[in-house]
Amino acid sequence: MKIAAPAPLRKFKRFVDVQTACRRLLSNTDLLTPKQRDLVNGVAKIVSLDDEMYGRRPEHYFQVGLSAIENINDVLAAAGVGRSIKRILDFPCGHGRVLRYLRQQFPAAEIYAGVIDTGAVAFCEEAFGAIGIKSDTDFRKVALDRKFDLIWCGSLITHLQEEPTLQLFEFLSSHVDRRGVLVITTHGSFATQLMVQKSHKYGLTEEAARSIAAAYAATGYGYAHYPGRTDYGIAAVSPDWIRAYFRRKEGWKEIYCKEHGWDDHQDVIAFARQD
Ligand SMILES: C[S@@+](CC[C@H](N)C(=O)[O-])C[C@H]1O[C@@H](n2cnc3c(N)ncnc32)[C@H](O)[C@@H]1O
Repeated sequence: MKIAAPAPLRKFKRFVDVQTACRRLLSNTDLLTPKQRDLVNGVAKIVSLDDEMYGRRPEHYFQVGLSAIENINDVLAAAGVGRSIKRILDFPCGHGRVLRYLRQQFPAAEIYAGVIDTGAVAFCEEAFGAIGIKSDTDFRKVALDRKFDLIWCGSLITHLQEEPTLQLFEFLSSHVDRRGVLVITTHGSFATQLMVQKSHKYGLTEEAARSIAAAYAATGYGYAHYPGRTDYGIAAVSPDWIRAYFRRKEGWKEIYCKEHGWDDHQDVIAFARQD
């Protein structure tokens, strides 16, 4: 059901009402623990119709955000910095699938939201009180003069070739504050198997899915363009490949790795800055 946007959000023209989806999710008493129910109950229930992550299963959208925040909480518990999260970066924030949970979990934190799409940046600023950052295809050009206690990078390297991924890691790692944490999600072994079995889910041809899986097995990094694109596609990147990068950098320690931990799909790996 379409509804008029609440007053402060009127300048955004297209919204969907997601109350029904959340009610359906909450009515499934076997699915959620009491703590998870509280999180879903409290989270902002407004979604931009431009949000490409909001598909035909609205309940799933809220489960994915919930799963992200649970991984983040586990990372923070592993890092022992749970009480001092004052500044957070969600990069790429999209239209706030995870950001809405970050806002709920850390109401007093400054939350920065970075993504390439200016409409999505504006939506996250207005809907969730985030501070927007305009990204670039070249991460070396992204202007950002802050450091963060927590950076969540959900499903970006899953679309990039090796060189931009390395530039992204440079960008993100240089913006983590002392004793801060960087959380990265990736298509690991589990997602790579799914790609080969059900390549249509990733918008890939069968041949592209097989080539990603072969390169992943050989080097830990497989990538293929989306059909018709030359700069963006689907990547599978192993936790070992990511680890190798952070081992080469001084002052970083791996604190968390959960294979297919995000929504039983993407691997989640986290590093803490020690210096
Ligand atoms: C799979 S979505 C994930 C979005 C969000 N993390 C979520 O979970 O809903 C990938 C996002 O990366 C964004 N993106 C692509 N290239 C980017 C870049 N160079 N800098 C920042 N964001 C980018 C896309 O616009 C899209 O919003």
